[in-house]
Amino acid sequence: MAEPIRILIIEDSDDDAILMLRTLTRSGLEPTWERVQTGEEMKAALASHTFDAIISDYQLPTFSAPQALDIAKQYGGNLPFIVVSGNIGEETAVQMMRAGAHDYIMKGNLSRLPEAIRRELRDAQVRAERRQAEMALRASQEQIKTRLDQLTILHDIDLAITSFTDLDKIVETILSHITQLPELDAVALLMPKPNSRGLMMAAQSGIPKNGLPMDGGSWENFISGLTYIESRGIFLADLTLENQDRSFLAGYPYQSCAVLPLDAKEKIRGIMLVLSTRSGLFENGWQDFLHSLAMQTAIAIDNADMFSRMQMANMELTAAYESTIEGWSRALELRDKETKGHSVRVSGWSLILASEMGMTADELVHFKRGVLLHDIGKMGIPDNILLKPGPLTAEEWVVMRQHPILAYQMLQPIPFLRRALEIPWCHHEKWDGSGYPRGLKGEEIPMGARYFALVDVWDALTSDRPYRPAWPREDARKYIAEQAKCHFDPHATEVFLQLVGQGLFDSK
Ligand code: C2E
Ligand code: SIN
Ligand code: SIN
Ligand code: FE
Ligand code: FE
Repeated sequence: MAEPIRILIIEDSDDDAILMLRTLTRSGLEPTWERVQTGEEMKAALASHTFDAIISDYQLPTFSAPQALDIAKQYGGNLPFIVVSGNIGEETAVQMMRAGAHDYIMKGNLSRLPEAIRRELRDAQVRAERRQAEMALRASQEQIKTRLDQLTILHDIDLAITSFTDLDKIVETILSHITQLPELDAVALLMPKPNSRGLMMAAQSGIPKNGLPMDGGSWENFISGLTYIESRGIFLADLTLENQDRSFLAGYPYQSCAVLPLDAKEKIRGIMLVLSTRSGLFENGWQDFLHSLAMQTAIAIDNADMFSRMQMANMELTAAYESTIEGWSRALELRDKETKGHSVRVSGWSLILASEMGMTADELVHFKRGVLLHDIGKMGIPDNILLKPGPLTAEEWVVMRQHPILAYQMLQPIPFLRRALEIPWCHHEKWDGSGYPRGLKGEEIPMGARYFALVDVWDALTSDRPYRPAWPREDARKYIAEQAKCHFDPHATEVFLQLVGQGLFDSK
């Protein structure tokens, strides 16, 4: 069976090239080949075709096997490179092999060529497979390491944000942990005074009952008496020998002191003082530990600070949204004069009904926003229809029935209102599927919209409208009872009527 093989031949003699090819063919190989005689031709050949092996004469008129080998390394990757020569000495052959040729063959011994090529192809295959396996292994090792790093980081972040959101708790936790070490007798945290310069004593632990002065001033003097605080901190091995102003420490038994700046993100958050009754304590082993501890503390403080800022910003944003919603619903009332107070009234009643039906506190927040905005779509209904003193014509009804869709278009792009949207959109759907805009049926209608429909109709019937005066309360009650199963959710209607019976939904 013929084995196809693509060969680049570097040879100036036609006869020699033909001889080589014939030898290969006779051995069962089926060569396709290109022959070149200069470096330029060789580069062009390697650039435009793929080869399985290179066979090169040693000496050509303007080219040679060592030059060809260089080019092969640059352009041909690790292609088998076999030197075939009539007059190459053993020394030259060894040199070629050292330089990276895979084999050499004397022209007089050409019958060796096919076997040499077959062997080199097999070796090349093995090399390629090994390279591939190595690459795959390296990639998977890198992936595992990256994953581990990520997990570690996630874990650290997780710990920091779940357990460290409250500054007081952070400080308490850290201080109580440190003073469990028998060598350490007292720890204090000094933090910048809010809204003014200077430091104050924020917390202390392990300090005797009569305590160190809470007044940060004397601490500040002590600290500023230290020429400067290096980022790693200052470690005073023997307080009795130092010449700082530490008069305020007089009468306390401390011998060693560490002053550690708490800096996170280039910002000094405060200073940690660690005190020991042993002298010379902070000269060895302890410094790295205290340095890490200070860093950890600073990061925790920074996180807590960021968290409280974020919470504040979030609260402000929520408040801004809530007042925007109330503003919109008041604007609608102003236009639709007859329904003044409607929004606030129905939102109170709706919350009573929905909680009675078991809606969760989280759902109630969105529900209330939806209720306040339920008729926001009426903003888009012209005055001559909205304020018309009599019944609507068929054409006018077409317009009026757009108001839930207008509301949907208006509110849908606002992420904050996405969970509130179902009320404005679905409050005119009916239990039997005869409502609008989509003709939803039964429990297809969002729960909140089903509850709200009861309150909405109750309020509409018991209020004056431009198109009719208010109905007597009893008539409205009867009407709603009749409409259970066709207009309203039957179970919600039952609960609603009980609440009406308790007088919870009377306007005056
Ligand atoms: P709305 O006045 O707030 O009424 C809300 C819903 O309460 C109505 O939804 C309807 O289900 C019920 N409802 C209100 N008034 C009556 C009533 O007199 N009889 C009965 N059986 N049910 C009543 P609906 O029907 O989809 O109406 C949506 C809105 O269209 C109304 O809000 C109101 O703004 C307007 N509209 C309805 N009917 C008329 C009308 O005859 N003339 C004018 N100018 N507007 C109307
Ligand atoms: C409103 O104030 O929400 C519009 C009046 C209505 O729903 O009838
Ligand atoms: C309407 O939506 O236009 C009437 C009932 C209401 O939602 O207040
Ligand atoms: Fe409506
Ligand atoms: Fe309404």
